[in-house]
Amino acid sequence: MDHFDYHDGELCAEDVPIARIAAEVGTPFYCYSTATLERHYQVFAGAFAGADALVCYSLKSNSNVAVVGTLARLGAGADIVSEGELKRAQAAGIPAHKIVFSGVGKRREEMKAALDAGVLQFNVESLPELEALNEVALAVGTRAAVALRVNPDVDAGSHHKISTGREQDKFGIAWADARATYAAAARMPGIEIVGIDVHIGSQLSSLDPFESAFRKVADMVEILRAGGHNISRIDLGGGLGVPYHETDQAPPLPSAYADMIKRVTGHLKCQIILEPGRLISANAGVMVSTVVYVKRSGDRTFIILDGAMNDLLRPALYEAFHRVLPVSEAAPDAPQSAVDLVGPVCESGDTFARNRLMPPLAAGDLVVFCTAGAYGAVMSSTYNTRPLAPEVLVRGGEFAIVRRRPSLDEMLAAEAAPSWQKP
Ligand code: LLP
Repeated sequence: MDHFDYHDGELCAEDVPIARIAAEVGTPFYCYSTATLERHYQVFAGAFAGADALVCYSLKSNSNVAVVGTLARLGAGADIVSEGELKRAQAAGIPAHKIVFSGVGKRREEMKAALDAGVLQFNVESLPELEALNEVALAVGTRAAVALRVNPDVDAGSHHKISTGREQDKFGIAWADARATYAAAARMPGIEIVGIDVHIGSQLSSLDPFESAFRKVADMVEILRAGGHNISRIDLGGGLGVPYHETDQAPPLPSAYADMIKRVTGHLKCQIILEPGRLISANAGVMVSTVVYVKRSGDRTFIILDGAMNDLLRPALYEAFHRVLPVSEAAPDAPQSAVDLVGPVCESGDTFARNRLMPPLAAGDLVVFCTAGAYGAVMSSTYNTRPLAPEVLVRGGEFAIVRRRPSLDEMLAAEAAPSWQKP
């Protein structure tokens, strides 16, 4: 459920007409709904009420400080993968003791920054990473709390680029090496083993792969405990999918996901850490764009927008589907015709949708891409020297620009001609 609806024929974000924001901010821009973010967080966290669980919102899905701040006020923790995300989580008010540091390639400087901050735990993915963390912790004069991320060799059944729990994927410690790696960790004076971690992929539409992976992890907890290791936390990662298409089979509800987790891990009496990203942020955001030209070419109609693949990469990268709505509601009897929705970037891949049935659109019309709050703005680039799209957060009848559009001069300011080109 989200809070982007038509009021009197005008698409609104909560109580604010999107056209009003567009007039002030210009397009393309991202627009987020506070009520939707809050609702998603509360539904998810509520599903774990009564259990010893910590919800660590995965910043990579949308790390705008205002978005993270909205969730911080509800008590969310954070799943981070870089020093930059650490800074954002802290700027948004998430205390370090609710932050878990994930990622397959943490650098030593980043480890030090996270140790200095006092994060709750590091999710470590390899023996070399463990050795580096041990050294950094000893140099700082502390011990790093560690969960080892194990690779359960379970296929998430999601897009191949976002499935992470198969043996051939770069993530986690191979199942067969897990016990030996725990034994190595136990011998390192700068490492304190606190738990185990798993994340098998993103946009999962079934609970079955989760359950297979979590059962394996639960069995491993018992094996590790029998080996003398202290496993008091299980981090189960993120990955629960959202509907992008009206006809998508509805993904499992957070309540069903939580019930399964309680059933599979409850007997272990561990604290459960969850890292949802998309589930919280995806439907809380849209990307708003203006039609620049309608171009007819042979039997095709191209709707050329001012938003492009640099602003919303998912269709180009994953052939992802995003619903597109006109901001001015089409009349119920308006004719629909198949069009290609494209951006202005010089690549054929800069195509948001092909043969999409849309009501009539003309230059100057506004459209929104739905379900763009996750992995939208965060994956944008300045390709073709296009400024990063601004981000707007709505709350009830008010809105705020929470990231402004940089000027072209700001974009060029970090670049310099080498001395030999100077007059
Ligand atoms: N935890 C870890 C260790 C992760 O790698 C991820 C996502 C999450 C949590 C959050 O997963 P979520 O709940 O959002 O599914 N750019 C892609 C998605 C990449 C996901 C990467 N890892 C997309 O646009 O679909």
